[in-house]
Amino acid sequence: MADYPFSPFPNGWFQVAYADELPAGGVLPIHYFGKELVAFRTLAGEAQVLDAHCPHLGAHLGHGGRVENECLRCPFHGWSFGADGECVSIPYGGGKIPPRAKLRSWPVQEVNGTIMVYHHAQELQPDGPVPVAPQLTNPDWVTLGRFRWQYPTHLQEMVDNAADPLHLVHLHGVLMPATSATEQAAGKDLKLTTKFISDPTRIGIPGEPFPAQIESLLHGFGMQIINFDAMAEGLIFLCFTPVDGEMIDARMVIGLKKLPDEGMTRFVGELVVKDVVRQFEEDIQIWKHKIYRAQPVLCEGDGPIGLVRRWSKQFYPVQQLSA
Ligand code: FES
Ligand SMILES: [Fe+2]
Repeated sequence: MADYPFSPFPNGWFQVAYADELPAGGVLPIHYFGKELVAFRTLAGEAQVLDAHCPHLGAHLGHGGRVENECLRCPFHGWSFGADGECVSIPYGGGKIPPRAKLRSWPVQEVNGTIMVYHHAQELQPDGPVPVAPQLTNPDWVTLGRFRWQYPTHLQEMVDNAADPLHLVHLHGVLMPATSATEQAAGKDLKLTTKFISDPTRIGIPGEPFPAQIESLLHGFGMQIINFDAMAEGLIFLCFTPVDGEMIDARMVIGLKKLPDEGMTRFVGELVVKDVVRQFEEDIQIWKHKIYRAQPVLCEGDGPIGLVRRWSKQFYPVQQLSA
């Protein structure tokens, strides 16, 4: 991590759990951004995320805390905290609440089957929502599986990678990209399109090579919605969350647009999963061992790495950039 001249904890929306991991009344301990947090869901269905350690004597509300009256009650002495992090009741001492009895409450958005929180170094509020991947709820699509990895690297690598079409050829074995990535950066979103030639025999399907393409929508460092169109239409929904300054927690949902019959969907689906997982694990091997080149030696044909790096600077805490 010493090679990276940026904070491991940039600003933006990051996944902390899948929505279905937190049922109504549920409580989850969470460790991201080098912090201890607690997520809970009210009986009305609202997911909330608070700092985990009680302002009273420091118990972790994620270990033994309970949802009561739509608040989170500390297991140690029963102080109760609302969604905004304010202590709302103390079951002794006349119930008088000290003014500093408050926990930081994190902005939460539930979208794409995930619980996202907004991390900001100065605790500012989010200035926009998380984009939706409509395929995840479209009945014409199937979800092929969820996958998860933790590995040591920096989030910058996750966005640099999306702007690097040539590693598809040399690391993952697709045929030459027909065109390098085209790109469009607008605020928090970055769109990249990569066209390449796909060889079906590479994943065990007989046939001639054909043109294929990948469209990636990056929303900050935390989310990538990747659509691919190669024989079948597919979705790679990726979320990256920094754990502790060393490790990244990567979650991936793979989806496929249904093919004319179920058997075909299952057959192609299995091949797609195998191929996508293999490629991601090839990337992890690179990320785990590479260093960061602030001034890489580039040559003709390399992707829009400069554009991606300029775009991604907006997510780093301000004092980090001027340092
Ligand atoms: S430590 Fe939480 S109520 Fe005492
Ligand atoms: Fe890759």
